[in-house]
Amino acid sequence: MKTDIKTLLAQMSLTEKIGQITQVYPGSVNEGIESNLTGPAGYGDEGDIELAGLVGSVLGMSGAKEVRELQDYCMKKNRLGIPLLFMNDVIHGYRTIFPSVLGLGCTWDTELAKKCAEVAAKESAVSGNHVTFSPMVDLARDARWGRIIESPGEDPLLNSLFAGAFIEGYQGDDPLDKYRLACCVKHFAAYGAAEGGRDYNTTEISEYSLLENYLPPYRAAVEAGCRLVMTAFNCLNGVPATGSTWLNREVLRDDWGFDGVLISDCTAVSELINHGYAEDGADAACFAMHAGVDIEMVSACYREHIPALLEEGRLDIGLVDEAVLRVLELKEALGLFENPYKDASEEEESDLHLCKEHRELARKAAADSLVLLKNDGILPLQKSEITVAVIGPHANTRMHLDIWSGCGKEDECTSLADAMADRVKVVTSHGCGITDGEDEQIDEALNTASQADIVVLAVGEHPSMSGEAGSRAFLGLPGRQQELADRMYKLGKPVISVVFSGRPLTLVDLEASSNAVIEAWLPGTEGGAAIAEVLFGIRQPKGRLSVSFPYTVGQLPVYYNSLPTGRPIPDESDTERYRSRYCDSPVDPLHPFGYGLTYTSFTYGQPRLSKDMMDKDVTGDDIEIKLSIKNTGGRDGTEIAQLYIRDMGGSFSRPVRELKGFEAVCLSPGESRDVSFTITEEMLRYHTRSGYMSEPGTFMACIAPDAASGHWMSFTLLQD
Ligand code: GLC
Repeated sequence: MKTDIKTLLAQMSLTEKIGQITQVYPGSVNEGIESNLTGPAGYGDEGDIELAGLVGSVLGMSGAKEVRELQDYCMKKNRLGIPLLFMNDVIHGYRTIFPSVLGLGCTWDTELAKKCAEVAAKESAVSGNHVTFSPMVDLARDARWGRIIESPGEDPLLNSLFAGAFIEGYQGDDPLDKYRLACCVKHFAAYGAAEGGRDYNTTEISEYSLLENYLPPYRAAVEAGCRLVMTAFNCLNGVPATGSTWLNREVLRDDWGFDGVLISDCTAVSELINHGYAEDGADAACFAMHAGVDIEMVSACYREHIPALLEEGRLDIGLVDEAVLRVLELKEALGLFENPYKDASEEEESDLHLCKEHRELARKAAADSLVLLKNDGILPLQKSEITVAVIGPHANTRMHLDIWSGCGKEDECTSLADAMADRVKVVTSHGCGITDGEDEQIDEALNTASQADIVVLAVGEHPSMSGEAGSRAFLGLPGRQQELADRMYKLGKPVISVVFSGRPLTLVDLEASSNAVIEAWLPGTEGGAAIAEVLFGIRQPKGRLSVSFPYTVGQLPVYYNSLPTGRPIPDESDTERYRSRYCDSPVDPLHPFGYGLTYTSFTYGQPRLSKDMMDKDVTGDDIEIKLSIKNTGGRDGTEIAQLYIRDMGGSFSRPVRELKGFEAVCLSPGESRDVSFTITEEMLRYHTRSGYMSEPGTFMACIAPDAASGHWMSFTLLQD
């Protein structure tokens, strides 16, 4: 039986209303509970008992037993029996941890992402969660920014498709259903554009780029039905996102029709003061309420200042009621008034967490997230009677989980050395630390490697070097790892480098000292086993980069769908000085968006267009582009054919190319298949000076293996 939310609201006191739009750590509600702080200290475990039964939601707590106990505790204290909402960061798994989202983005497999989200929802729902602060879809073009690891990548279309897939996986048809969670897309908006790649830094983005690149993934999430949106920490064009009425009311609610809950990021309301935007907590509360922020996460501006703001007439109770209603409606939508525990079940926790089926999905996802960056033919490893030396700081450790791995545990992962030892004789040595190392460690590693036929070098970053507040100004391998690689390579044995990192690193030197290089990201619970299976060819490498790999940090931000400039470099042979180039570095990234090798090879035939004119006034006057792809190697392989379009002229300068579609094609050795895409007038639309539409003129299209390739074909969109 539905709860009459409006009647309930009418019964609530102002204090009770403010409680519902306040979210705290569980330790703030009941000092017996340890809080998992995901933000600045000082808001953790003060155990402010008067909050118990008052606040509307808590974050960062789970466990069927613990959630039931806290729900009972708080509901007894709540005069009207209003249940708590339990929200958590279930980003890429709950107990079974899947590859970081950037790794999932490199699968280009939205169906797989949806399955991973379904499992994550199931495992966390039985542990008492109602809402996940996911998907994170911030467009990320700068590898210095640590949270690039949480994003699907640099492309508006790919990020938008993954947004929809995650939401479908978490929410299903209805988050009320069993094993489902309500989703909170984040961070609204353009958090990934932090200047200098420095987390929380300001962002300056033209409206054109906002509309074309940064906003579409959030809009896709809203259109996919996400129930919550989280405001971003950053200042956007001079206005902090959390206090922006333009962003949160005009764009999100008025233009996009979002009617769910808008929650601030952790302490972001109080941070309006640090931004030099609000003079004090009262200002901050006023700005955030007027911007439509329904829940203040962790900081206490609403609690401390709304009564006075109402007294002074700076705030209208109608805004407070609007926010409270949305929170109560979300609780109603999740059925919490009828069943405040939703799916919390200790019995199902033990049945579902890390079960075989979930681990198998995690292993597949990890394998598909790996990107083979270099291979001189040493891979796949052929023989099992060889001895392999697994060397490096990631050889025997299990640092496969990024900092947003929730309740995942490293001791439930398998180290690469152990995973390899299941298939071949392994000797292993640390070689050096992530950020330090002694000569004798490296000497010992060289000695160990001298006993082996092949070296697998497991290098990279510590998980704490990426993720939130994990910004880096240098992107080489930290510490003495490159020295370890160089000296290992000089032994003259084949070296296969596996890179565990939370971002694209600058790998020019590592690739020079390796016969093969695989980017493993932070691959999750089954990462070790997945990498071993790919190294031995039991699974094929399928990953394609969803972010560009810079040649050097000085190129950043580097991304494929850039504007052409007035002095582009026409081709590699060009030596003209007056071009948009560096004197000391290539302009192109080391590896482009869409790049990834397999254990076979593919050739692309000559593309063909069904016609070269498209009449804008004739609905469905589409053009087909087609070509044949052949597996010219000796092994099965999956090619991800990508459709790129270029608009040769418009009311704005147009990107050198834009991804408009892709298709995974599995081919056996010698097999050919036609791949075709339909080019529609809708694909040609963009935010012109006169609105969202296509503009007649010349376009180019190609089907390519990555964003640096392709044979372009020209067509015309006719005048209307
Ligand atoms: C953090 C993160 C956000 C997360 C939230 C709750 O500061 O920015 O992504 O969901 O706090 O943990």
